[in-house]
Amino acid sequence: MSARTPLIAGNWKMYKTEAQAEDYIQALLPLLSSVDGVEVAICVPFTDLRAMVDSARGSRVEVYAQNMHQEPEGAFTGEVSPVMLSDVGVQGVVLGHSERRACFGETDKALALKVPAALEAGLRPILCVGETEEERDNDDTERKLRQQVRDGLARVPDERLAEVTIAYEPIWAIGTGRVASAEQAQEAVAFVRALVGDRDQRAAEGVRILYGGSVKPENAAELLGQADVDGALVGGASLDAECFAQIVAAATR
Ligand code: PGA
Repeated sequence: MSARTPLIAGNWKMYKTEAQAEDYIQALLPLLSSVDGVEVAICVPFTDLRAMVDSARGSRVEVYAQNMHQEPEGAFTGEVSPVMLSDVGVQGVVLGHSERRACFGETDKALALKVPAALEAGLRPILCVGETEEERDNDDTERKLRQQVRDGLARVPDERLAEVTIAYEPIWAIGTGRVASAEQAQEAVAFVRALVGDRDQRAAEGVRILYGGSVKPENAAELLGQADVDGALVGGASLDAECFAQIVAAATR
């Protein structure tokens, strides 16, 4: 792995009440006590944010949200703003997850506003990109990634590009148990890095790019061993503290 510090981010999706989240963090923290050289984040439902920020304080675990609106406030029923997240002590936010794109109409146009809004509020954004199975079969992966990366970063100034983490998540590998091969992951992640390089070469060297999609303790080391893969966005396997800690450990090797 490169000089970039790896990031292992767990995406809980719509799982865990506050009590379940508390049990989880109490189990996770001791498992990470000897871990070094890797950043760890858990992306939790809104209702768990405050409790997890309190419980993770002083530890290596950062707490991220899974979505936000781009405006600081306004008549947007059901939405949560970047300012509200940073006020709670949240350190980052996942943006443009494929489930938000597919189920809730998240668009590249909205993401073009959300990514810089997160940075301005002091949040670390993880911008998710990735192709469907059909797009991969039609050799359309690069076009899709180019569009998502270009639009998502369009309004981020060059000097802040490296503060964005990008997660390459092939949609066909999310929650399916079908993981991309290490070679496929490396190829796509390197392509994403080159796209950032089209904007700014220094940013391309600094930007962290994660792989996501059916990452498990059994396949983590190989995926994380690829030259351009700077970490993982982990869904299902992040719900179990023990499993998640094993993936974090794989990133330290
Ligand atoms: P998965 O989810 O690890 O369960 O495939 C990944 C994600 O949705 O980020």
